[in-house]
Amino acid sequence: MPSIDAQSTFRVDLSLKTVQGAALCALILAQQASADASHDLREIAQFRRPVAACALDKELIVVANSRSGSVSVVDTETWSVTVERQIGERLSDVAALPDGRHVLATDEQEHAVLLLGVEAGKIWEIGRVPVANHPVSIAVMPDGRSAAVASLWSRTLTLLDVAASAGDDEPPQISVRATIPFPFPPRVQCALPDGRHLIVADAFQARLAVVNVESAELKFVRSFAGHNIRGMAVAPDGRDLYVTHQLLNSAAPTTFDSIHWGNLLENLIRVLPMKAVLDPETDLVRAGRSILLGTTGSGAGDPGGVAFTDDDRLIAVASGVDKAALFPELHSVVTPWIETGRRPTEVLVVAGGATAITVNMLDDSLTVIDVSERTLERDVSLGPTPDPGPRERGESLFFDARLSHDRWLSCHSCHTDGHTTGLLADTQGDGSYGSPKRILSLLGTRDNNPWAWNGGFRTLHDQVGNSVTTSMHGEALAPEQIGDVVAYLHTLEAPPPLIPEPTSEDDARLLEQGRTVFHAEGCARCHVPPLTYTSDQIVDVGLEDEQGARKFNPPSLRGVSQNERLLHDGRVDSLEALFRDEGHQLETGLSDDDVAALVRFLRSL
Ligand code: HEC
Ligand code: HEC
Repeated sequence: MPSIDAQSTFRVDLSLKTVQGAALCALILAQQASADASHDLREIAQFRRPVAACALDKELIVVANSRSGSVSVVDTETWSVTVERQIGERLSDVAALPDGRHVLATDEQEHAVLLLGVEAGKIWEIGRVPVANHPVSIAVMPDGRSAAVASLWSRTLTLLDVAASAGDDEPPQISVRATIPFPFPPRVQCALPDGRHLIVADAFQARLAVVNVESAELKFVRSFAGHNIRGMAVAPDGRDLYVTHQLLNSAAPTTFDSIHWGNLLENLIRVLPMKAVLDPETDLVRAGRSILLGTTGSGAGDPGGVAFTDDDRLIAVASGVDKAALFPELHSVVTPWIETGRRPTEVLVVAGGATAITVNMLDDSLTVIDVSERTLERDVSLGPTPDPGPRERGESLFFDARLSHDRWLSCHSCHTDGHTTGLLADTQGDGSYGSPKRILSLLGTRDNNPWAWNGGFRTLHDQVGNSVTTSMHGEALAPEQIGDVVAYLHTLEAPPPLIPEPTSEDDARLLEQGRTVFHAEGCARCHVPPLTYTSDQIVDVGLEDEQGARKFNPPSLRGVSQNERLLHDGRVDSLEALFRDEGHQLETGLSDDDVAALVRFLRSL
């Protein structure tokens, strides 16, 4: 079980003075800005890409927009946007404080948490606190006195203290209390009603970390079969944790039949007894039950957010098919679907529980659902958008399960957010079934040439077209559509390395030693620096797949430290093991010291 290293948990007491000082200027700027209508972005044509929303009292909700870095304030009486203001670069989440007047938003690009003040028709920044790189979600604990920020690529949870405002005119104060290194890249979080515990899910595989927020400890990690956890909610009686995710059968070939019968991939809500989640001795794989989303003939690819209404009904979204499901009662399996906007990712229950809204990322809208009638109430546009270009059309295709036979899965089901679930899938990428391959990350794939493990595709267009017809058994895309997906893939950069910069002088020396080993061992012949760390060769490095194939294209080493498993069949689970146990491309063995140095170098790429 991973535990946190006491040495690496440190406290950062940010000077509250600075935060207050910043608050003062931000406040002044914000007031000036509100006088100047040009700062209100409501009428500006832009791509917003809303990713999260939270409800404040006084009938207001705040929506965080990732691409525009703006926040939109929506009045739930009139369902209109009352103001939109740019506050960051790439927002990833937003959560309300219990005072009903302030929200916390995470900025994935600025690596910060922003404290915002909200009033009808007004939103302004009060202060910001730097957190571990790439924050993707924030959870406020029930008492509102602490919050947790999950940072994806830096694999860190930052705990914040939130001191309530002293008087009406004083803003709350936020400061970093602890940082907890994580054994996996975290994404979705769920604060438990006991006020002490927090469940944090792996962004790619089905792992849940149980964190004690009071003692700032990662207690243990639970895992079960699956991947792509995108939603978590606690049942109103507190007894079960509802988790939306997918389950890929790595042994099933991606044939028409295995997709058709739901044998390749299932879209699920898993119901885990809270007792089992919190007891490391119980087997989570056997615990609980599953609710299948979609059926034969009508799949429901890519389950997303999940929530409970005030009358204890469950609402969940299927992001890949633009639908929400409202379960009449918790044990029902069959449910009528409600159409939403494009790619609903989050669902939020508002207005005293009578209404639910979905946040539709790819058409900049919200869908309002009448909970008791189980019907669509209205669509709310967050503002005008330009005509979608190739990139936007490609993004929409990438996250669309309608590209697959019967809508079971999208590209994102295997290449999560363009990265990878880290699992194996038995596709025709290598020209055969029976030799499952590790799903490749598409972050940075634009710099590869050729594509696929065996280098079988000479153009990215061929690889994409083939993925649709053979991995998903969908209708062939038109050449322009393939071009659109390729244009989208061209926007995806390699994931940042686990340890980009030296952390000390000793670490800097180790990194340099590693670079020397890399060149001395001739690694650069196949993994060519300085940009791609790959090459167009197809070589035999002594590894064979189940079909006897031995020739593979050297994978890019950009962001290689973010891979859960290595090599074409994922046989190795760490960079250390690749050189220590497999002796990958080493003429003679390396000393332990040189292996450590080489691995340190690879973790900086
Ligand atoms: C069932 C899971 C699955 C689905 C769905 C899927 N892929 Fe893949 N993808 C894989 C696997 C596995 C590989 C590696 C296969 C191999 O090389 O033999 C791969 C490889 C790729 C590569 C090569 C990357 C490189 O750097 O060489 C690209 C590009 C790609 N997929 C794009 C897509 C796109 C676009 C979609 C949606 C149209 C998609 N994939 C759907 C599993 C999947
Ligand atoms: C002759 C070409 C060649 C040389 C030299 C070479 N590699 Fe590789 N490397 C490959 C190939 C091919 C694979 C994929 C093999 C497979 O998965 O079956 C690979 C895989 C890897 C991987 C795993 C990447 C992943 O995502 O799974 C790492 C890391 C790596 N090499 C690092 C190195 C280092 C460090 C050296 C020098 C010690 C080195 N390689 C030398 C061809 C080479």
